[in-house]
Amino acid sequence: MSSRIVSGIRPTGHPQLGNYFGALKQWVSIAEKADETFFCIVDQHALTTLKDMQTLKQDTMIMAATYIACGIDPVKNAIFVQSHVPYHTELAWYLTCITPMGWLSRMTQFKDKAGKKRENALTGLFTYPVLMAADIVLYGATHVPVGDDQKQHVEFARDIVQVFNNMAADEILKMPEPVIQKSGARIKSLRDGLKKMSKSDASDYSRINLNDDNDLIALKIKKAKTDPNAITGDIKSLENRPELENLIILHALLENKSTQDVLSSFDGQNFSNLKLSLTDLLIDHVSPIREKVNTLLNDQAYLNSCLKDGADRANIVAQQTMQQVRTSLNLLQI
Ligand code: TRP
Repeated sequence: MSSRIVSGIRPTGHPQLGNYFGALKQWVSIAEKADETFFCIVDQHALTTLKDMQTLKQDTMIMAATYIACGIDPVKNAIFVQSHVPYHTELAWYLTCITPMGWLSRMTQFKDKAGKKRENALTGLFTYPVLMAADIVLYGATHVPVGDDQKQHVEFARDIVQVFNNMAADEILKMPEPVIQKSGARIKSLRDGLKKMSKSDASDYSRINLNDDNDLIALKIKKAKTDPNAITGDIKSLENRPELENLIILHALLENKSTQDVLSSFDGQNFSNLKLSLTDLLIDHVSPIREKVNTLLNDQAYLNSCLKDGADRANIVAQQTMQQVRTSLNLLQI
C-alpha cells in the first residue's frame, strides 16, 4: 500500500523550537520514506483562537518559509495553505452532520481551551476536530505525524471515517494512523518545567523562537529556571527536577544523544556549564534556520510560487475525494 503523509501547523505567532523538534524535523525524515506528502499551513484552524487577524497573513508566510528552511523540499512535498483548498471546509461540514456532539465534548483540548465558561466558547473551537479530520481524510492520509496532544483528534478522525464508510457502505475514506512524535512534545517551557513550550505562552522567555538572534538565545538560556542542586548522573534524579530534565532533553535532542549520555557527561557539574554548552548547540541549530527563513521571506515571489504549486497539487487530490464523497451522500450533481 502506498503511504500518504498529512500534517499541519497553525500559523499563530513565530514558530519555536517545539515546532522544530516536535514536528518539522521529524516530517523531514518521515517524508523521505513516504510516497506522497501534504504539509499544510492550517490558517483556518488558527482562526479558532486568534485574538485579531492583523498578523495572520505574515504568520502564514513565516510558517511557509519555516517549513522550507527546516528542510521540507517544496518540490518533493506539497506545501500549501489550508484556505487555498476550499474542500477542507466543505468536507468538514459533511462530517459535522454525522458527528455526535458528545464526541466533541469529550475532546480534552476543547475542555482546556474553552475553560470554565463553556457556553461562551466559540463553535469553531468546538468543531475544530472535525475540520482536522477533513484535513486528514481529504488526502487519503495513511499516516499522520502529530504530537501526543493531537492523538485524540486523530482517533476522532478514525471514528468519523468508520461512521462515514458504514453509512456509505463502502470504503470511501481511508483510515489514518497517528504517528506520535514523542521527543518534541516533551520540550517544556524554560520558565516552568511542567508546562509545554508554546507559541502562545505570555512570556517570550519561556521559549526559543526560530527567529531569535544569538544574543537572545544566550540570554533566554541564562535566565532559564533551574534548581539549587548540582547535577548528578543518575537518571532517576530527573523525576523531581523538571527544569533540569528539560534542559537535558533539549541538549540530547540537539546532539542526537540519549538523555542518559548527556546527563552522565554533566555528572557533578553545576547548571552554568550545562547552560553554556546548550547555548552553543542551540545557536548552531537555530541560526542557519533563522537566516534561511529571512532569505526566503525576502523572496515573496518564490514563496508564493511554492504555495501556489502546493495548492494546485493538493486541490487535485482533494477534488477526487470530494467527488466520491458527494456521490456517496447522494448530492445532486449536474
Ligand atoms: N491540530 C493540530 C495542532 O494543533 C494541527 C493540525 C490541523 C493538524 N490539521 C491537521 C495536524 C491535520 C495533523 C493533520 O497541532
